[in-house]
Amino acid sequence: MKVRCSSEKKDVRAVWFEDGDVRMIDQRKLPRNLEFVSFDNYVDVAEAIKNMTVRGAPSIGASAAYAMCLASLKGADLKRAAEEIKSARPTANDLFYAVDWMYGLLIDGEDPVKAADAYAQSMVDKCTAIGKYGEPLIKDGAKVMTHCNAGALATVDVGTALAPMRAARDAGKDFFVYVSETRPRLQGMQLTAWELVQEDIGHSIIPDGASAHYMSKGVDLIITGADRIAANGDFANKIGTLDKAIVAKHYGIPFYVAAPVSTFDFSTKTGKDIVIEERSEKEVTEICGCRIAPEGSKALNPAFDVTEAEMVTGFITEEGILKPSEIKKVLR
Ligand code: MRU
Repeated sequence: MKVRCSSEKKDVRAVWFEDGDVRMIDQRKLPRNLEFVSFDNYVDVAEAIKNMTVRGAPSIGASAAYAMCLASLKGADLKRAAEEIKSARPTANDLFYAVDWMYGLLIDGEDPVKAADAYAQSMVDKCTAIGKYGEPLIKDGAKVMTHCNAGALATVDVGTALAPMRAARDAGKDFFVYVSETRPRLQGMQLTAWELVQEDIGHSIIPDGASAHYMSKGVDLIITGADRIAANGDFANKIGTLDKAIVAKHYGIPFYVAAPVSTFDFSTKTGKDIVIEERSEKEVTEICGCRIAPEGSKALNPAFDVTEAEMVTGFITEEGILKPSEIKKVLR
């Protein structure tokens, strides 16, 4: 992604490997500050996944691949490292996919840096293909809605849900994006909107509760990412996705999910089997460390929800756009 660093525009990735270190954008500091962090051991990379320095399923996967790379370079017990890295977060399939992929190659004696770099690059290539397949869905003058962050930050580079938008912008199309803020961690407002500013794509941030209002007035399509897609096409994505899918169905608005094959988990039969991460209630009751909820109130904070396959118009993948009924046949 091209980002404004002081006065110049620089090419950066969400996560990469350089001079023996795993480097990444500290996504917790955006949009105020563009800061980078470096790690020289896998335990710290696993912690960065856990504390949301790095976010979004494909970027979490690439970070996990680099964590396995560091574990191998430092001579750590790979089995133990794999377990530790996988335990960082429970929902995004890419985390488990990447660790297993790296484990298999490292056991076979593959060069750790080459393998992890290849994994990260494959995400970028897949996202580019997702952009190519998704671009025709965005017509000139379209109003698009997205939720959470499924842009370059979440996917090493390019994005999943944002890839068709970048491609449509490159094709000279004029369109507009509604970005729902995504309480409580504000990935929509702080990350997606920041990326759209970098990309000069017209957009407005809307409160999560305003999605139905704008859909009732005319949204042409919704594109979100996914954190895990079960074998039957049910999928987990950031909390608030289900509400949008239900309202989209009510108004007959096409609902697309953009994701690479690494997000599909055919060992999970349906959405009911997806583990949903429960996060600290402080993310709900506090803003910038200051309590805003009444003392004595408790809060619930599921990080993701599950949307049934029947609400999905199509999955935009690197293999093309697939109906929920086609995913097993084409991707397995
Ligand atoms: O909890 P996060 O910030 O890691 O959330 C993940 C996401 O960014 C989204 O759910 C996204 O829509 C899918 S991953 C491209």
